[in-house]
Amino acid sequence: MNAMQPPDAKKKFVKEKFSSISGRYDLLNSLLSLQIDRYWRWRTTRLLRSFADGWVLDLCAGTLPLALELTRQARERRVLAVDFCEDMLRAGAKTLPADDRQHRIFPVCGDGELIPAPSNAFWGCTVAFGVRNLSRTLEGLREMHRILRPSGKLLILEFSRPTNPIIKPVYTFYLHRVLPAIAGMISGDKEAYQYLASSIAAFYEPEELLAMMREAGFASVTRLPLTFGIVSIYIGVKQ
Ligand SMILES: C[S@@+](CC[C@H](N)C(=O)[O-])C[C@H]1O[C@@H](n2cnc3c(N)ncnc32)[C@H](O)[C@@H]1O
Repeated sequence: MNAMQPPDAKKKFVKEKFSSISGRYDLLNSLLSLQIDRYWRWRTTRLLRSFADGWVLDLCAGTLPLALELTRQARERRVLAVDFCEDMLRAGAKTLPADDRQHRIFPVCGDGELIPAPSNAFWGCTVAFGVRNLSRTLEGLREMHRILRPSGKLLILEFSRPTNPIIKPVYTFYLHRVLPAIAGMISGDKEAYQYLASSIAAFYEPEELLAMMREAGFASVTRLPLTFGIVSIYIGVKQ
């Protein structure tokens, strides 16, 4: 799959790939990131601590790891977890802990470019490793803006490319060589992880994504790089 594919072809490809790896997604996530992904999700969720008891929409929710962290950090919070790949949501729903969180997470199958939720309804919108997969990024950002209440916050956790001259070549080698080989063996779908590497390489520069967030209507737009800039949290507020 090349990054310049027409939007509908990309959408079909992405849905099929996530469906094919859904059963092994969590295991591979922890293995390939050495569990640093937990820290990244924790940091992202902490940024919503001033909205501890409102509804949050977690877009591209996948197997629900961020929805779990969002409901773990705030006991009154409810999360609408939207993803267009039913198999990912089903895999996540199977692993929900037997505590009150299973009654505060509401998985819904739907497209991030046409979010099945009312306008001005959520205090927070989170997207972890999902924006890169959208076919029409600006449409998705406009939808995230629409569903947020005024003064609600958008948090996008996404891979970025480290610029440190020592880290950069090591990371590039890991991403393009080591990761597809290991993940391909475990998941049985090497192509899915080649797509992961190429989609990270082809994704917008941080300044481009920040500009698109402004274009979609967000204010106070900032970026918080984590772990040598391997990932970033992009923050925006609906005025
Ligand atoms: C890399 S996974 C991330 C899952 C989860 N947020 C996490 O932190 O592990 C990306 C998810 O985005 C979903 N996705 C991609 N494009 C989408 C779209 N247009 N609408 C809804 N979900 C989408 C995929 O189905 C997949 O579950």
